Amino acid sequence: MIRSPRGTNDILPNEINKWHNLEEAIRRITSRFGYAEIRTPIFESTEVFSRSIGDTSDIVNKEMYTFMDRGENSITLRPEMTAALVRACIQNSIANRGELERLWYYGPFFRYERPQKGRFRQFHQFGAECLSSPNPESDAEVILLAHSLITDLGIVDYTLNINSLGNSISRDVYRDNLVNYFSKYESDLSEDSVRRLASNPLRILDSKDLKDIEIANDAPQIIDSLDKESRSHFDRVLNILESISVKYNISSKLVRGLDYYSHTVFEFQSNALGSQDSFGGGGRYDGLFEQLGGKFTPAVGFALGVERLLLIIDTLNKNNQDSLIDFYIITGEEEYITKAFEISNLLRNQGYKVVSDIQRKSFKSQMKDANKYNANYVIILAEREMNDNMFTLKNMHSGEQQQLSFDTIDNIADYVK
Ligand code: HAM
Repeated sequence: MIRSPRGTNDILPNEINKWHNLEEAIRRITSRFGYAEIRTPIFESTEVFSRSIGDTSDIVNKEMYTFMDRGENSITLRPEMTAALVRACIQNSIANRGELERLWYYGPFFRYERPQKGRFRQFHQFGAECLSSPNPESDAEVILLAHSLITDLGIVDYTLNINSLGNSISRDVYRDNLVNYFSKYESDLSEDSVRRLASNPLRILDSKDLKDIEIANDAPQIIDSLDKESRSHFDRVLNILESISVKYNISSKLVRGLDYYSHTVFEFQSNALGSQDSFGGGGRYDGLFEQLGGKFTPAVGFALGVERLLLIIDTLNKNNQDSLIDFYIITGEEEYITKAFEISNLLRNQGYKVVSDIQRKSFKSQMKDANKYNANYVIILAEREMNDNMFTLKNMHSGEQQQLSFDTIDNIADYVK
């Protein structure tokens, strides 16, 4: 048997409803905030990512699906959207003259990671980016957008961890403080962290190594290195979040694994997920447009992992399977199959989802089928009622039944809730 590549998933018909529900919620919430969708290619020139995410990041170092195409171009399957979106905006002169742009996206992404619960090699993200505003109000807006979607999906039990990396001046001061501190423990640090001491000391704070974590516990905090401008930006973001009752937790070690961030960074975390407990993250990336050859364009945004969101939703409503159809039409006798076609058609024209038997199954098997579809109602065409030009309408949730004449089909809404 040929199997799908490791770390990829088939999304099967019995799961598609929850994907559609999530996708609908994304459209609903983004439109409430005035964000417009952008779609870009699934592969990009490799430099889009190598020049933006950072040479020392895990993504660029170990996780990209990169290959030479037949024209000898280095191509990478997109591991994330922010750099690709910035490339598309520069190319298409979006936000080119400092105009505010509110954009969202949804689609598949690719990272060569070790697969485990909630971690795949092909996964999906929903994200939003607010371009051209340097102001903390836009940081608060994108966080509120993410929060609104998360709560609309019924997820209330989650933590928003937030931190500030400050502007580049603050970050340089902090980097020096960190190097001074960690250098004292160089012989105790993990190999990875020793390497990061030279290349990207902030990432040591992110280490999963127990000894590193212990040493990092007493490391200087970035908050203390923030200059006045950086501190007031961060305070204003927190201030707005408080005023709209979005709860947050200041997490002084949160640095995120991508190099393009400055000022606000944040992550959404849930205990329902196990070790891959971060289901979204984002931050401000004021330098990225210039890094990719565009004009200075301050920007902020986030991405949520769709599979992780769905895993959390699964833990909320285990038994709450959605109905796939409104009506299943059961034909007691094969001779009624044509009638079932007619009724199905009338109901579908009224907008209902309808399935009738086309396999000439027994009454019992059709009933089983109706349950498989989790039909809200069945319409039963049985000899006794058919002789009186009637049918039975059964509510599959309450078990309640009523006999109705075929004239009622045109106004079936009066008989179903
Ligand atoms: P990220 O933290 O790398 O950020 O990814 C965002 C989310 O994508 C993660 O929190 C996680 O839910 C999901 N994700 C990442 N890798 C995997 C994987 N291998 N399997 C399943 N889910 C995964 C970014 O990608 C930034 N572009 C976010 C951003 C937008 N920053 C500013 N704007």
